[in-house]
This record gives sequence, structure tokens and C-alpha cells, in this order.
Amino acid sequence: MAGSYADELRARFGMDVDLGGEVPDDPWLHRALIRRTHRRYGDRPVPDSLVRLLLAAAFSASSKSDFQQASVLWLKDRDRRDRLASLFPDMPWIGAAPVFLVFLADPRRLERLGALRGKKQDNSALEGFFNATVDAALALQTCILAAEALGLGTCPISVLRNRIAEVAEILELPDKVFPVAGLCLGWPAAQGFISMRLPLEATVHLDRYDDSGLEEAVDGYDRRRDSRHSIKDRQREPGRFGVAEFYGWSEDKARQAATPEGAGFAAWLKAHGFTLDEP
Ligand SMILES: Cc1cc2nc3c(=O)[nH]c(=O)nc-3n(C[C@H](O)[C@H](O)[C@H](O)COP(=O)(O)O)c2cc1C
Repeated sequence: MAGSYADELRARFGMDVDLGGEVPDDPWLHRALIRRTHRRYGDRPVPDSLVRLLLAAAFSASSKSDFQQASVLWLKDRDRRDRLASLFPDMPWIGAAPVFLVFLADPRRLERLGALRGKKQDNSALEGFFNATVDAALALQTCILAAEALGLGTCPISVLRNRIAEVAEILELPDKVFPVAGLCLGWPAAQGFISMRLPLEATVHLDRYDDSGLEEAVDGYDRRRDSRHSIKDRQREPGRFGVAEFYGWSEDKARQAATPEGAGFAAWLKAHGFTLDEP
């Protein structure tokens, strides 16, 4: 039974959100507003037929120029999955999820089409990289929403790119194909929780870009998030950054981002066919 938008918006943003008028009541929108990532799953199997249905929905996503530059690798082989999961011991859900998919950006296929049709072209520039990444991301999110519509839980996995060479070797990825993210899939073992989002004032710009109110918006958001779920006892790297008196989302994310992820990804791409230049 769907709740009210007012409750769902409060759950999502930690505050009352005035939409400013009447809106249609739609079950899909209710579900989207309360969606959440799940990292623990029950033993109940997910039939292959269901996974195929979700993949069909995933590949129904929009695609830049109809180039269709996303691919999915469905990792069913236990040995390969274990090898992959062993690279990321901090994320046991990678090995434990009933289903594991990898959403791939696949600029290679468009080049193959060119070769097949006698019109060789090079799809290794930034444009090809970017378009294929967007296609894969759209397919990923469409798969997530389709799965959630059936009561399944999912967790995207971008840490794959932190060990890109080993992952590419395990999955036998050719040049010009790379993982945008994995996706764990299964029946949720718990209810999970709604992750609060920044207020629309911080993320939506009207007519022109204006982030002059960012600090105020983030301060309020930090406080709302903290009052629902405090992370003050989980401060990152206190030896490096000290112990903050108030430890909110923005402090946590600033500390997290101070150690960038994905080292070696650009070099790996360049060693595997991408120039990332102008076309
Ligand atoms: C592209 C992408 C990559 C992600 N990678 C990981 C990951 O490697 N491991 C993980 O546990 N969660 C991962 N997540 C899940 C996010 O942490 C999660 O979406 C975020 O905390 C917001 O929570 P929510 O989806 O429940 O709203 C990823 C999400 C996205 C969209």
C-alpha cells in the first residue's frame, strides 16, 4: 500500500517539501521516492527468467544516438565470482548476492559495426568513452528500478574499477570495453533505510546556475541527516583530519574524497585502446 508523497518526501529529504500544487498519485513514483540500496540478501533464489526480464528492461533504457553502447556480463560461474569477490574483502555482498551482473561501457561494438559495414572508424576518443558510459549507467539504473518494482534489492558496485586490471582479466574484457559498475541482486534480507538527499535548493538551479546558497543548504542537510542517523562515532582518518566536534555528511564526504579512488583507471583505459582525445 503506497504512503503519501508528503511522508515519502520527508523521508527522502528530512524536511517537508512543498510541491506547490496538485500532483497525480502514481504507484511508480511512490516506489521511486522510497527506493534504497540493499547489500544483504536472503537465500531465496532469483530465477534466470526474472533476471532476463530485468535485463530486457535494462536494455529498454534510452541510448545516445541509438548507438546502444552498453553491454552486461552476467557472472554465473562460481569460480570467477569468487576470484572477483576476493579482490574486495570489504564488500562481502559481491560474492554473496544471488545474482551478480556487470554493466559494461562498450564502445568496441560500434567500431565492429563500422568494420562490418566497411566504414572503419575509431571510437576511442572521449566522446565514445562518455557516450558508452552514459548508456551503461542508464541501463544500470533502469535495471535497478525494474528489480525494485518486483521487490528485489540491488547494490551497484563501482569499486570494480579500483582493481581494473584484475577485473578485466577475470571477465576477459577486450580492449575498449570496461565496467561502469557491477550490480548485486537478490531478495532483501532486511528492510533497509532511505538515504536522505540534499535539498532540491542545492541540486536544482532555476534558469541559471547559482550555488551561492550551498553552504547554508549543506549545513541544514548535515544537521537533518545527523538527527536521523548520526555518524559521529565513525569519523574517517582521525589521525589525519582530527576529531570533528560535529561530524556530518559533508565532513565525511570531504574526508572520503580527499583520498581519490580509481588510481590507474585512466592509464588502464589508455593502455586498452582509448585515446580520450578529441574525436
Ligand atoms: C555508480 C554507483 C556505484 C556504486 N558503488 C558502490 C560500491 O562499490 N559498493 C557499495 O557498497 N555501494 C555502491 N553504491 C551504492 C551507493 O553507496 C548508494 O547508492 C548511496 O549510498 C545512496 O544510497 P541509496 O541508493 O540507498 O539511496 C554505488 C552506487 C552507484 C550509483
